[in-house]
Amino acid sequence: MSPLPPPFVPHAADLVVFGGTGDLSMRKLIPALYHSDRDGRLAPETRIIALSRGGLTDADFRGKVDAEVHTAGAVPAEDPEGWQRFLHRLHHVTVDVGGDAAGGWTELAALLHGHEQRDRVFYLASPPMTFGPFCREADAAGLVTPRSRVVLEKPLGRDLASAQAINDEVGEIFEEAQIFRIDHYLGKETVQNLLVLRFANAFLEPIWNSLWIDHVQITVAETVGTPGRRGYYDHAGALRDMVQNHLLQLLCLVAMEPPSRNDRESIRDEKVKVLQSLRPITGTEADRFTVRGQYTEGPGMPGYLEEPASTPPTDASRQVETYAAIRAEVKNWRWAGVPFYLRTGKRLPSRRSEIVVQFKDVPHSIFPGGAPNRLVLRLQPSEGIHLHIMAKEPGAGEIALRPVPLSLSFAQTFATRVPEAYERLLMDVLSGNPTLFMRRDEVEAAWRWIDPILATWEANGTPPEPYPAGSSGPASAHELLARSDRTWHEEDLA
Ligand code: BG6
Repeated sequence: MSPLPPPFVPHAADLVVFGGTGDLSMRKLIPALYHSDRDGRLAPETRIIALSRGGLTDADFRGKVDAEVHTAGAVPAEDPEGWQRFLHRLHHVTVDVGGDAAGGWTELAALLHGHEQRDRVFYLASPPMTFGPFCREADAAGLVTPRSRVVLEKPLGRDLASAQAINDEVGEIFEEAQIFRIDHYLGKETVQNLLVLRFANAFLEPIWNSLWIDHVQITVAETVGTPGRRGYYDHAGALRDMVQNHLLQLLCLVAMEPPSRNDRESIRDEKVKVLQSLRPITGTEADRFTVRGQYTEGPGMPGYLEEPASTPPTDASRQVETYAAIRAEVKNWRWAGVPFYLRTGKRLPSRRSEIVVQFKDVPHSIFPGGAPNRLVLRLQPSEGIHLHIMAKEPGAGEIALRPVPLSLSFAQTFATRVPEAYERLLMDVLSGNPTLFMRRDEVEAAWRWIDPILATWEANGTPPEPYPAGSSGPASAHELLARSDRTWHEEDLA
């Protein structure tokens, strides 16, 4: 067997993380960068410069990362030397975007000075209203070089108009090719495997359409609630936090036409076409085709309104959904009449993200007790692909059928560590590959579809349907499918 090629190492870069001491940075970005470093994927000169208002020195910041990332077990303990080397890549500069003090920008400029030939990445792990001001101030400080890129975390805005305004503001400083709008679901292994499954195997394509497929289900179920996140969540809710981005991106990958090339524009062109083909859900249709819920107290778990937070609940807290389900339709030749059911929620019985493609039943059954085939793409946990087929139960006498899965478990098949989504995406940013990032037209097309649903929900003014924490969600979500004699794929969920 020939040896594996050495890992691809992007050019030396300065990665400037605004919001660098925040939750995302500590939980996801820094561990991902450490793992990339450990795998030999960071150039020796690459630096990680955290910006925050925290007034930390480099030593303070390294100590904080050591305590919060290393000691908390987000990185392995058996590599003390590598960890120390990694810590020395870290710097901290105090910057107050929108504040009066220009001091931080001057300090940052001094740190970056002389490194203009390096790739420079500004990663904005901060609320979307800071994106425009950050870009303007970084530009005014002379920090935006031709080799610069900017990464924008989701959600980009809270509706189409605000997303367009942010895109305009950022677009005044950066070219579209320099803007990387991140959706970490696109970095998940199984999500990329969906592209490979569909476009590197011939057998699925002839049956990947409304003639053979009854419906598609996309589920992102979480056990976590929102402790400490009320400030953000009250104004986001499940529709903006999860559906507008993660779930719609998954829908696009299932529904898109085969792109002609695996390059930066071809895949995104096809995804945009799917978003533009979604049938709008307007006015009273939102009552029929969408469900919103909020978790209440459950066994050993507080309700949304009782979650620990720095401020007491408000009217916005009472109105916000922690669960959303939607029956969507893609109006094109391939998918006409095939419902795409989307659902996501907090405090559900198990953590599970998956795409279920439910095939139609055989046209004429000669055996009793059959069930239609089902393809399950499991994103997490236990990444894998399972095709449920009918088999004969062993034994003499009458033929009895049993659905059994043909299973591909990535962990068992590849016997390797499955990298976190952020590892893959950060390497793509550092090497300038935007294929797995969202283009402006894509984000805006997604908002264009979400906006009328939000508008109806807001106009209705009715509070979301309660569901106990730890249950499988509001009753209406089950009725959404029951109306057409379908049920959610509940394996492992209850
Ligand atoms: C984030 C949302 O984008 O995704 C969170 O803001 C959510 O609310 C998280 O918990 C889920 O990501 P993952 O990778 O754990 O499924």
